[in-house]
Amino acid sequence: MLLKVDGLIKDFGGLRALDSVSFEVREHELVGLIGPNGAGKTTLFNCISGHVPVTKGKILFDGKDITELPPHQRAKLGLARTFQVYAAQGDLNVLEYTMVGAFLRTNGRTKARDIALETLKELDLLPWKERKVSEIPVPGQKLVTMAVAVATNPKILLLDEVAAGLNPQEIGWVKGIISHIHKDLGITTVLIEHVMALVMDISERVVVLDAGRVIKEGRPQEVVNDPAVIKAYLGESFRLEETR
Ligand SMILES: Nc1ncnc2c1ncn2[C@@H]1O[C@H](COP(=O)(O)OP(=O)(O)O)[C@@H](O)[C@H]1O
Ligand SMILES: [Mg+2]
Repeated sequence: MLLKVDGLIKDFGGLRALDSVSFEVREHELVGLIGPNGAGKTTLFNCISGHVPVTKGKILFDGKDITELPPHQRAKLGLARTFQVYAAQGDLNVLEYTMVGAFLRTNGRTKARDIALETLKELDLLPWKERKVSEIPVPGQKLVTMAVAVATNPKILLLDEVAAGLNPQEIGWVKGIISHIHKDLGITTVLIEHVMALVMDISERVVVLDAGRVIKEGRPQEVVNDPAVIKAYLGESFRLEETR
């Protein structure tokens, strides 16, 4: 097991955002994490990446207990993520921006540049390398945050709604990139996503959170046909085919 979350509880004051969540990810798996807004999905990522402290429970990554480690040490161990609310911004160009991730692996500027170029090539973003991140459209900025994460050469990549706000054509593009990261680069991936056409198509296993609890996990087809999932999240009229 690459990642194991065991009995995780996260309280924000009187609000229990995560209520005894246990969750595992095997090496090389692609797992979808779905659930209604406020279910605790982002909080689960924040606990795994170390951006918020857990109230109770354990997080094991690659055989180590990382529950108390700060985010940068988890990143060094091979844990990378993107942020739901964050798109790449600022004066740097796409190449320089991606180098920020590469600097986790090297102190050398030339080496970092090589890693960043290789990553942009892998993600098909090389044509953008000279463009300022603030000047590319928001969906593109989200992809650049993925490039930064991939440039750290992670063992696991946590993606938080990278396809939000994309049109169907762009969703197809992002789907291809995530599949490439997972299959060809061999990076274990966990994907928080509301876009069903994306998450159900590429996930090997889907975990459903509702009100801080795991209410279902299984293959995509099992999950979409589960009455509790339909009630909590998908809605009675949901048909997977309609989202394609
Ligand atoms: N830093 C925080 N402080 C207080 N409450 C928070 C914080 N982060 C998240 N929450 C609350 O925790 C619950 C889960 O939020 P979140 O993890 O963002 O859900 P999701 O990503 O599934 O939409 C929500 O009720 C949210 O308001
Ligand atoms: Mg969220």
